[in-house]
Amino acid sequence: LSAPLLDALGRPLRDLRISVTDRCNLRCTYCMPAEVFGPDYAFLPREELLSFEEIERLARVFVGLGVRKLRLTGGEPTLRRDLPELVARLARIEGARDLAMTTNGLLLPRLAADLRAAGLKRVTVSLDSLDPAVFGALNGLGVAPQRVLAGIEAALHAGLGVKINTVIKRGVNDGGLHEFWRAVRDLGTVRFIEFMDVGNHNGWNLGSVLPSREVLARLGGEFAPVAAEDRSEVAARYRDPDGHEVGLISSVTAPFCGDCSRARLSAVGTLYTCLFAASGTDLRAPLRSGASDEDLRTLLSSVWTARRDRYSEERGEHTAREARPKVEMSHIGG
Ligand code: GTP
Ligand code: 5AD
Ligand code: SF4
Ligand code: SF4
Repeated sequence: LSAPLLDALGRPLRDLRISVTDRCNLRCTYCMPAEVFGPDYAFLPREELLSFEEIERLARVFVGLGVRKLRLTGGEPTLRRDLPELVARLARIEGARDLAMTTNGLLLPRLAADLRAAGLKRVTVSLDSLDPAVFGALNGLGVAPQRVLAGIEAALHAGLGVKINTVIKRGVNDGGLHEFWRAVRDLGTVRFIEFMDVGNHNGWNLGSVLPSREVLARLGGEFAPVAAEDRSEVAARYRDPDGHEVGLISSVTAPFCGDCSRARLSAVGTLYTCLFAASGTDLRAPLRSGASDEDLRTLLSSVWTARRDRYSEERGEHTAREARPKVEMSHIGG
């Protein structure tokens, strides 16, 4: 194997997050608020999206450059038609050790077995509350938490690894954290996520962030830190004396840009080197105008070696609220 490709701050390229659609069947207030993403919102037309062949081709080039983890995201990735076919293509790529998907879980009862059979290893399911009123308001459509739980059950039944992502907004879903955690912790590792200033429409302010250290305090009990398995892990993990593990994703109070090895590919084939990037590099045009694998390698290498992003480390409340445009969460899936 050749030496890892390092960016301008010495960080290797290890993970590729692949968005397969900008659509979603929920309207979470912190991601795609219904007032903005309404009935008239112009989602991407199908022909704009990368085909499965194109995604596979790019993924192979990325893996050739050192990527070890592939993650499917959206929007909501399960809305992309024939998704198991894409999973099967990606699962065949030699050198990609991990193949995961971040999802809201609603379509897993229908899809989990096929995804597993195609080679998906694990899913991370978003679930922010077990209180129907609280969850219904947060997801913007009144969808009940039981529907997500059914998706988690389906994933477990299919043999997929399961993690649970819980975004916390102070004053919205931070009541009863201990009860929530007790109720779901045996379904999968729970990761509590600080509400972030992603995109341009989620009304972020520092006052709505519940710092992770406070989340941990509210869970009660004696938590000891667990050593990271992988430097680029976004969650800091803790374990209580009974062996229950919890993850804290603290992009606001404890940024982790120093080890960030993640590249993001949008559904239309734009490469972003940060979750908070204003713009990216179009890979679709070269793909569709006959670029060779070597041309693509050269392009990707030049983008990665120039990378200096460290948004979360530079963020102040001021910069976060300034009108600097950022890529939408629904285009790169977190
Ligand atoms: P694992 O492989 O299971 O560790 O997945 P993951 O935690 O990397 O992915 P997931 O999609 O579950 O993301 C969890 C949360 O972390 C989401 O809120 C993401 O938006 C956030 N996140 C993931 N990567 C980054 C990153 O590079 N920077 C920031 N600021 N947040 C990130
Ligand atoms: N802050 C933190 N996490 C977010 N997610 C979506 N929007 C935000 C935000 N503003 C989470 C979703 C999903 C993951 C991909 O990102 O809940 O679990
Ligand atoms: Fe959809 Fe996930 Fe965004 Fe919620 S957080 S609107 S489920 S993409
Ligand atoms: Fe990586 Fe950007 Fe997130 Fe920092 S803010 S960890 S550079 S994606």
